Amino acid sequence: MATSLKFPKDFKFGVATASYQIEGGWNAKGKGESIWDYQTHTFPHKISDKSNGDVSCDSYNKLDEDIKNLKQLKVRMYRFSLSWPRLLPSGFANNINEDGVRYYNELIDKLIANDIEPMVTLYHWDLPQSIENLGGWTSRAIVDYFGDYARICYELFGDRVKNWITINEPYSICEWGYGDGTMAPYYKSMGIGSYASGHNVILSHAAAYNIYNSEFRSKQKGRVGITVETSWLEADSDTKEDHEAANRMIQMYFGWFLHPIIKGDYPPVMRTQVDKKSKEQNFPRSRLPRFSAEEISQIKGTIDFLGLNHYTTFMVKNGSVGQVPSNYNDMEATRYQKSEWKHSAREIFKLVPWGLRKLLVWVKNEYENIEVIITENGYAGLEKETTEDLDRIEYYNLYLKEVLKAIHVDKCNITGYMAWSFMDNFEWSDGYTLRFGMYYIDFKDPKRERKPKKSAFVYQNIIVTKVIDENLLPNTFLH
Ligand code: BGC
Repeated sequence: MATSLKFPKDFKFGVATASYQIEGGWNAKGKGESIWDYQTHTFPHKISDKSNGDVSCDSYNKLDEDIKNLKQLKVRMYRFSLSWPRLLPSGFANNINEDGVRYYNELIDKLIANDIEPMVTLYHWDLPQSIENLGGWTSRAIVDYFGDYARICYELFGDRVKNWITINEPYSICEWGYGDGTMAPYYKSMGIGSYASGHNVILSHAAAYNIYNSEFRSKQKGRVGITVETSWLEADSDTKEDHEAANRMIQMYFGWFLHPIIKGDYPPVMRTQVDKKSKEQNFPRSRLPRFSAEEISQIKGTIDFLGLNHYTTFMVKNGSVGQVPSNYNDMEATRYQKSEWKHSAREIFKLVPWGLRKLLVWVKNEYENIEVIITENGYAGLEKETTEDLDRIEYYNLYLKEVLKAIHVDKCNITGYMAWSFMDNFEWSDGYTLRFGMYYIDFKDPKRERKPKKSAFVYQNIIVTKVIDENLLPNTFLH
């Protein structure tokens, strides 16, 4: 059914990708090794199809084709990430790889020449292995290294890039990379390593923001945000207990990072919970580190806009579950999904469009109507999915309708939407077994030809017309 609501004229529609997931060229012309290069080459069994991102979509060599497709989609913005080891092969700021600078200069210049605004993520998970060898995000030293890297990126590209995202999904980096160990660097240290790395992620983000403020902002006039991911967490009943449990969960998942960045310190409920649990568990101090007064003043307010990644929703009940210790256990809340919710090829990415609207309203109220750009939202298809991706179309139509309601009915401050993803790509530990793209790629084809799926036609239509019409099923692009 068509809705009469329309996206605002200046609303920024775009698509998103990340360097390791699309570029390939893993050792091209001076590039250094990332944690994903190292892990996929050394322990291929950690990836479900034993694959890697050595070639992936080959965007390193197919830049012109990517630009042509972006143009065809008529997006206003393209969110992509820079590969830290492609720019700084040693990980450190002593040596800049000219070929990396050339590649990103070309990409940025061609986007701008085609009226597409670059939105650049500094860090989307491909940490230089040299820095991981020193402890990666669990080591305090990374704050300086990340700041050095950010400064170089602003220096190199900030004359043209006006939208910066420091770090993509701190929760995933910390919980999966250093907590349950399901993502590079695959460390298992739940409730300890995850909090230690989280602390340094927050300080590193603030360092990169503050460097922009003091050295670049007045000249370059850009903006710096961070991308944080959350599911919507809906209380399972009207009881006070379930409401409090849902609040604990969102504060200790999403608020873990956003509360310090916006308000200066961890959410009070997170401090209380982790301190209490650590004590009960006989730890000599809280597993959640503390910021000094000086650090609080450095991190508070280091955000010009919020990049929001969102895929699904969970119901939340009061109760203690999860491994001891762990972030999940610290929450004293338990989550589940309704069996009647339609699922995608990733079981937990269930279709619950109303959850996005509720989340946007929660963000508006919790963080004083902060400007939100949805930096990821999308649908997982199976490996055997074809260009006839009707379920993805349903997902986008339904979720975008909720965004429209949040803008017009709830008056949320949402200025852009980046669909995940532009094209099928390397889906981390799931390898090539899941497809998120609007362009289909056969990863066995050496040419890595890109073919628009039906969802690309629908998305382009939404971008052009600014309305959602669920009955519309175009077979081609509008000209
Ligand atoms: C990440 C992407 C990933 C997507 C789908 C997000 O967590 O930022 O890199 O491909 O979700 O799983």
